[in-house]
Parts: sequence; structure tokens; C-alpha cells
Amino acid sequence: MTATLAQAAPDAPVLDEDPFSDENIANPYPFFVRLREMAPAVFIQPHSYYAVGRHEEAGIVASDYARFSTTGGVGLSDIRKPGAWRPRSPITEIDPPDHTRVRAALQKILSPLVVKTWRDKFAQRAEEVAERAVAKGRVDGVADISEAFVLQAFPEVLGVDVPPERIKQTGELNFNQLGPNNERLKRATERTAPIMEWYAQVLQREYMLPGGFGEKIYLAEDAGEFDPGTAAPHVRTFFRAGVDTTMAGIGSTLKLLSENPGQFALVKADPARIKGAFEEALRMESPAQVMFRVTTADTVLGGVKLRADTKVGYHMGAANRDPRQWPDPDRFDVTRQTTGVHRSFGFGAHVCIGQMIARLEAESILGAIIRRVRAIEPDGKAEWRPVNTLRTLDSLPLQLRT
Ligand code: HEM
Repeated sequence: MTATLAQAAPDAPVLDEDPFSDENIANPYPFFVRLREMAPAVFIQPHSYYAVGRHEEAGIVASDYARFSTTGGVGLSDIRKPGAWRPRSPITEIDPPDHTRVRAALQKILSPLVVKTWRDKFAQRAEEVAERAVAKGRVDGVADISEAFVLQAFPEVLGVDVPPERIKQTGELNFNQLGPNNERLKRATERTAPIMEWYAQVLQREYMLPGGFGEKIYLAEDAGEFDPGTAAPHVRTFFRAGVDTTMAGIGSTLKLLSENPGQFALVKADPARIKGAFEEALRMESPAQVMFRVTTADTVLGGVKLRADTKVGYHMGAANRDPRQWPDPDRFDVTRQTTGVHRSFGFGAHVCIGQMIARLEAESILGAIIRRVRAIEPDGKAEWRPVNTLRTLDSLPLQLRT
């Protein structure tokens, strides 16, 4: 039946455009419109992968692991092929049923009890950062708020001691590596070359701080809950997946609130809406812009024929503004019901395991700021940092009015 359908379906249309060009990275939204309107799946000629930009099909690619596997890596390059740039992540780059066992073991360590202790730590750090930022008044929402908070609070609970500047550099490298081997990646590789030896060491057992989450992962490996040798890559995956994305989401929420005073007023009047503001900002400016799978066989997606053994990128940035799913998708609306529907945390078996941590961090720092101010105003032009697969701000000049 599937074979007949596959034969009958048309091949994916070809788009001779680079989603990772300077222009598309700076402003991805015109490309997303072209992608969504062309077809449910489009073959991207310059990088030989299928791009999926509609909400429904993005969800299928993210979750239907029998057809769209993560075993080729969640980046554009195929980690099974010679010249792979990194070893497989022991959680993101395996499929069920292997994945189910590993995920359950991780979920056990990330118990509600552990998360509760993190809540207190986040609240304490958020108060300190907010106090300093509000005292300054004129701030960079990135350096003074989102980075100041996440770069301190998250490594602390993870129990790793990494200098903030190096976290940023290696994060940029990581999210460039998930895209094509272009000039942007080459520059990031050159910049980080002097610290790569240090980076290979710093997430090893002897560097874990006592009582932290990282140490717990090593202890779980000792107890046989993870395969031998996988604790270090687990810590690395947590560290990488958790820092840059959360900073990006908090930065975008501040930007959108500053640009939409009416929406800020709604949140100020009812701080329970901070949750909605964060989710809506994640929808509008998805931190992870695209994640990849590989086709396990010839298949059909949205009536389009895809070839076997080919990468498929689900562009969550595009899916999150698909008008088939969202009325008035370019409007920032903190009352919109987006949780579990936007694709910024992925979908299916690999859906973000740290999403409640990200929410906890965002609610802590945004709550601490919003409680102290009557307005957040733009104070100059915000700049995006050019990274292949991460939508994150480089600077966000703001005026915090008390
Ligand atoms: C706003 C912040 C965050 C965003 C936007 C985000 C986004 C994502 C996405 C899109 C995926 C699924 C990838 C795929 O489909 O292949 C994912 C998975 C994952 N995330 Fe997050 N994440 C965030 C915060 C965090 C935090 C704080 C942690 C750690 C505490 C974390 C840890 C992970 C891990 C370990 C996975 C892999 C899960 C699996 O493969 O089963 N993330 N994240």
C-alpha cells in the first residue's frame, strides 16, 4: 500500500535557495513563507535535504521515528558517514525502543524533588540579577539579564564549572555545527580551536561539582542505568541543549514584551501570564530553528515522495508561524494557547526533556524583573547573533522604568 502510494506521489519540488544564507539567517521569515507555500516538503538543492515548514508535517517528521530516524544525527550532516564531526549523543540520536530506556533513566534523575531544589536556586539568582539590572535602568537585555541569569544559574544546578564566555563560544559552535559546513561554521571552529582540548575535559567526571546533576549522571552510569562511557556525552547533551536555547527564549520574550506595551500591561496586571508570554515568544522566535532526521526508506509526506537515506529538516521556526495552524501568526499574543502545540520543544519521543526547567528559569527571571518595573521599553536596535540553527539575540538595548 505504502509502496503504491510512494510510486504515485510526485517528487518533492526543488528549491535552489540556501536557508542558511546571511540574509535568511538575519531574517528567516520570508524564506519560511516560500518554503511553506511551495509544498509540504521541498528538496533544498544547495544542501541536498528535504525541508519541511508546515506545522502538521513538521510534527510528523519530529515524531514518526520509524520513517524519520534520529540515528543519522539531529544535524544536517550524517553522523553515520565518514568524517562525522562528533560522536552520537546517547539520548537525542537513538530511536525507540533503545531511546525509551535511556530517557526513562534520565527522567528518574530529573525527578520533581531535584527540580524543586533547582527552583529555589533559580529564584535566588533571579532576584540578584533583577536587582542589579533594575538599578542600572538602561540595560542590554542579553548581557545584563538573559545571559547574566542563565550562565550562572544553569551550570550551577548542573554542577559544572565553566566560564560564561566559553559557554557562549562553544554554544555558538554547537548550533553552527548542526547546520551546513559553511563560512559561519568555519569561523566558529577557528574561534574555538584554542579551547577544544579544555572543552573535551571539562565535562568529565572529575570536573563535576558534588551534589550536581552531572555527578548524578555519572553515579547512574556506575549503577548500570546507562551504557558504560555514556555519562560524559549525556552531561554534554544536557549542558548544550539547556543553556543557549533558554537564553535565546528569555531574550526574545523581553524583546517582544518591550515592543508590545499592551501585552506587557496584560502580564504586569496578572503575572501568571508570564508563562504564556514565554511560550508565545518561543513560538514566534523558536530558539532551535531546525532539527534533522533521516529517511529510513522511500516514503511519502504530505503527498510528496521522499527518497530513502536522505536528511529531512523540520523547520520549527516556520511551523510555528504556519497560518494553517495559527490565526494571525505574526502577532505576539500572550493569551494564545501554544503550550504543547508550538514545535519549539520538538514533538514525540524526543520532545525536550528539560522544558519544565526552561520554563522555571524563564518564570524566575522574567517574574523578578516584571515585579520591579512599570515598563520595559526598547532603547535602540536589537541585533540577532548569526548562528546556523539558533535564533538568539546578540544585543537588546532596553530601558527598565520603575
Ligand atoms: C527554551 C529552552 C529550550 C528549547 C527551545 C529546547 C528545545 C529542544 C528541542 C527542539 C528538542 C528536541 C530535538 C529533536 O527533535 O531532535 C530538545 C530536546 C532536548 N532538550 Fe531541550 N530545549 C530547551 C531547554 C532545555 C533544557 C533547560 C534542558 C536541560 C535541563 C534541555 C535538555 C534537552 C535534552 C536532554 C533533549 C533530548 C531529549 C531526547 O532526545 O529525548 N533542553 N530540546
